[in-house]
Amino acid sequence: MNSLKQYIINIKNSYTIGKRINHDPYFKKTSVETRIEIEKGPRRTVVINYLLSLTPAQNYLEIGVRNPEKNFNRINCKNKISVDPGIEYEENPVDYKMTSDDFFRKIRKGNIEIDKKIKFDIIFIDGLHLANQVERDIVNSLDFISKTGFIILHDCNPPSQFHARESYDFLNSPARNFWNGTTWKAFYKFRHEKLLYSICFDTDWGVGVISKTKYAGFNNLELPMGNPYFEFNSHLKNKKFYMNLQNFHDWNKTLK
Ligand SMILES: C[S@@+](CC[C@H](N)C(=O)[O-])C[C@H]1O[C@@H](n2cnc3c(N)ncnc32)[C@H](O)[C@@H]1O
Repeated sequence: MNSLKQYIINIKNSYTIGKRINHDPYFKKTSVETRIEIEKGPRRTVVINYLLSLTPAQNYLEIGVRNPEKNFNRINCKNKISVDPGIEYEENPVDYKMTSDDFFRKIRKGNIEIDKKIKFDIIFIDGLHLANQVERDIVNSLDFISKTGFIILHDCNPPSQFHARESYDFLNSPARNFWNGTTWKAFYKFRHEKLLYSICFDTDWGVGVISKTKYAGFNNLELPMGNPYFEFNSHLKNKKFYMNLQNFHDWNKTLK
């Protein structure tokens, strides 16, 4: 086929796809949901710095950093450690250029210059956003978080099943390139742990917080699990309760 013919076919195809998308209610609804989420505040950095200010914080760990100007460099804490294998940001100016699994393995084995007994006041988990990896990151973090500290997880509140897709690179999704992955599943699962307390701030795509201490407004869920198959649409109906979804400013007022 000559290239002009192919060119015309491509134009026709993209016109048809565009027309289909314009009439697809999922695309319309999802783009509204994306806009609403983007407009929410405060951003994760404000939440993290606020939680750090509640404890005499010394040590902060961030798993998954990308461009440190966006969050890591703005965190107010004496000792800060950054871990990232450099998948999304070529410069990757972090302390430990490796996956979170490798990082925790090396601390345990004493293969890096961090005390095996270190306790962090905040561990911010924002690496690979797939439930099984996030679950491992939480399990590892529980060994290195202080009794009063906070494990914080970004992207716990995807507004739609399209934002919560497993594959980031499915760009024909109604959520376009906005992606929260399946972090929500790991957070929801840990909400059922009796000795852990959690809250999810309804801002910046869901800032989930887990602690061994029962802070005001933090709670957990009783077994059996209400959504044992982790179905997104069941989750959506009950997520305020399931995730202990709270407005950050309202929660903050209750502390005063
Ligand atoms: C969403 S970005 C982090 C954003 C950053 N925390 C912020 O607040 O601006 C996710 C990062 O996780 C990194 N990443 C991917 N897989 C990882 C893994 N297994 N362990 C640690 N980091 C990982 C990617 O390289 C990417 O830089």
